[in-house]
Amino acid sequence: MCPDIDTFTTIREPGADESTRPGSGNSVEDRSFGAHDVPVIEHARGLRTPVLQSLAELERRVVAVDGGRLKLEWPDLRGRRGDLVEDLLWWEGDRLLGFLGLYDYGVPTVELTGMVDPSVRRRGIATALLAAALPLCRERGFDTALLVVPREGAAAHALASSLGAALARSEHALELLGEPAGSPTPPELDLRPLVPDDIPAVDVLFAMGFGQSLPAPQDEAGAERLRLSRENTLVIHVGGAVVGAMRLIHDGEGAGVYGLVVRPDHRGRGLGREALRRACLRARAEGASRVQLEVAVENDTALGLYTSLGFTRVTTEDYYALPF
Ligand SMILES: CC(C)(COP(=O)(O)OP(=O)(O)OC[C@H]1O[C@@H](n2cnc3c(N)ncnc32)[C@H](O)[C@@H]1OP(=O)(O)O)[C@@H](O)C(=O)NCCC(=O)NCCS
Repeated sequence: MCPDIDTFTTIREPGADESTRPGSGNSVEDRSFGAHDVPVIEHARGLRTPVLQSLAELERRVVAVDGGRLKLEWPDLRGRRGDLVEDLLWWEGDRLLGFLGLYDYGVPTVELTGMVDPSVRRRGIATALLAAALPLCRERGFDTALLVVPREGAAAHALASSLGAALARSEHALELLGEPAGSPTPPELDLRPLVPDDIPAVDVLFAMGFGQSLPAPQDEAGAERLRLSRENTLVIHVGGAVVGAMRLIHDGEGAGVYGLVVRPDHRGRGLGREALRRACLRARAEGASRVQLEVAVENDTALGLYTSLGFTRVTTEDYYALPF
């Protein structure tokens, strides 16, 4: 029988008692877990190291049962700044059993992804986490919340359908292990880190390529978020002009490429392939043994470019628009 979550869940707001959290001296292993451990949804502002460790353990337990991969975006989780609630954590005593992360890549859309420990499924935990997240998304001015679901995840698809969510788009997750294929062409391309003078042109490129724009910062925290969102940007120059951009972000032994875009009047000349080839070489030179990226399933042009460099598909992810 599923217990009624609403009747026994309490909500731990930021600033609540730290003494029961991991890292406060109580390890998951040395605490007994029993019926007295009332479920708590923590609205987390930032994720401290012990919580990140609990999250990694939860991910391992989930992937061991479900296989595949979860789009948890570890660089984002590690880089949470702490001024906003971006993660919801389901605790029972010191055991982290559920997680839902909010990923803000610019209005109007927020992405949500999460997981529930295999031992406590079908108790309504994911539903409760989503119910707690949606008001936060609305408060922050998003008009679309996309739940990211791995294609292989039957339970997650059933969850999306139980919530009345509609499939909005699907993306392949690709990975390159080893050297990128191909030799350098065309020679005139220059790929270098973003400098302040590039910002207006790069903002236009990202808005044009992905239809998303970052809001003008209202305060210091907003300005800092904007600055962070531009970190790790590489700019493609031809003849001194900005003609493309991407972000290259390192994560442990891997790296991710995000938002590769080439100006429409410069497409079809091999600039994207050459810029990505160089970015992959750069990632390898900086210690990454694999490079990951995502591409819309219907974007045959980009898919062809990536596979020609040696990228292969790891999984496909479906993005469901939740009723708001
Ligand atoms: C998807 C996932 C988060 C669901 O967590 P959960 O806490 O078990 O989900 P809930 O109990 O809130 O389920 C709500 C409804 O979704 C549907 N559902 C969930 N799991 C299901 C399953 N295995 N089979 C059929 N329907 C299922 C049901 O309609 C369910 O309501 P019901 O139990 O009253 O029939 C969990 O299975 C999981 O962690 N999967 C791996 C991670 C993942 O895929 N994450 C991406 C999605 S965020």
